[in-house]
Amino acid sequence: MIKAITGTKDILPSEAAIWKMLEERVIKTFTNYNYKEIRTPVFEKTELFARGIGEDTDIVGKEMYSFTDTAGNSMTLKPEMTAAVVRAYIEHSLGKQQSLNKLFYISPMFRKETPQAGRQRQFHQFGAEAIGSSSPLLDAEMIQMVYEILTGLGLKHLSVKINSLGIPESREKYKTLLRNFLSGKKSRLSEDSRKRFDTNILRLFDSKVESDQEILKDAPLLIDHIDEESRQDFETLKNVLTLSGIPFQVDPKLVRGLDYYTKATFEVISGKVGSQNALCGGGRYDLLIEQLGGTPAPATGFAAGMERILLACENEKSLTPPDEKIDVYIVLVDRQLTREAVSTALFLRKKNLSVDFDYLGRSVKAQMREANKYNARFVIFIGGDEYKTNKIVLKDMSSGGQVLIDKDDMEQMFRAVKTEISL
Ligand code: HAM
Repeated sequence: MIKAITGTKDILPSEAAIWKMLEERVIKTFTNYNYKEIRTPVFEKTELFARGIGEDTDIVGKEMYSFTDTAGNSMTLKPEMTAAVVRAYIEHSLGKQQSLNKLFYISPMFRKETPQAGRQRQFHQFGAEAIGSSSPLLDAEMIQMVYEILTGLGLKHLSVKINSLGIPESREKYKTLLRNFLSGKKSRLSEDSRKRFDTNILRLFDSKVESDQEILKDAPLLIDHIDEESRQDFETLKNVLTLSGIPFQVDPKLVRGLDYYTKATFEVISGKVGSQNALCGGGRYDLLIEQLGGTPAPATGFAAGMERILLACENEKSLTPPDEKIDVYIVLVDRQLTREAVSTALFLRKKNLSVDFDYLGRSVKAQMREANKYNARFVIFIGGDEYKTNKIVLKDMSSGGQVLIDKDDMEQMFRAVKTEISL
């Protein structure tokens, strides 16, 4: 038997309803904040992500699904959307049409990580990118949107963490400070951290190794060394979050795993999903557009992992999947009347009702069982004694009541179903 690829998951019909609920809520919230949807291809030139996310990041270094096509071009399945959205923004000169572009997406992503609960190789993100303004109000807006979505799903065990990474100049100065602080201690760091010391020193703070954290305990913190403008913007962000009633913590060790960030960064953590606890992450990336060849434009955004959010909902029992119903199930009492069943179904489906009937030649009893399984609101019986007198029986499945309807008066049948008469 051929099985799904490790780290990928089927979303079966029994789960699809809850995905749809989540997607509808996401779209509604983004629409309320006037974000417009953008869809980009599932694969891009590898160079886009290498340059956009940063050569020294885990994503580019070891997690990308890259392949070379027959023409010798290196392609990559998108591991994230920000670089792809920026590519589309530059390519289609969106900045010329609109000085501020507020964009959102819902899309599958691909990262070759070790699968575990809340971590897959194909997963889904929803997210937003606002390109064209350096206002910290937009950083706050990102957090407002995701917080509204998550609390709207009934999630309670959330913590919002924010930090500021400042601009590259202040960050470089800080890195020198950190390097000096660690100079006599480097040999005591874990192997991974020693590597990061050379390639991406800020990421040392991400280390899960206790002895590393012990060494870093008294390290200088970036937040205390950021430039004045970043500091003021960070104050505004905090004020707006307070005004919005969103509880948050400043986490000076929140460095994020992608290289493009400047100034504000944030994550929302769930206390109910185990170790892969970041439901979303984001921040400002004021230099990325220029770095990818566009006219400089400040930008901010976030992305949230949908599998993790649904896992949190499941663990907090916060979402009840909607009852799936169909409007009408047609029970064929007399097989000779298949034509009538088909045309009744056609008529009602054209009227926008959901209708099904039996394709397996089952008994009336089995058809009724099927109607119950599908949660049919009404059953129409075609055939039997009533039919001989040109009547069709319409049964309301919740009350059990039934009425006779002229078999040639489909409009009457439609009206009866549509007004949900309790018979
Ligand atoms: P990220 O932190 O790499 O940021 O991913 C965002 C979210 O995607 C994570 O918080 C997590 O919920 C989910 N996620 C990431 N990897 C996996 C995985 N392997 N399995 C399941 N879920 C996963 C970004 O992707 C940035 N593009 C966010 C951004 C947008 N920053 C600015 N604009």
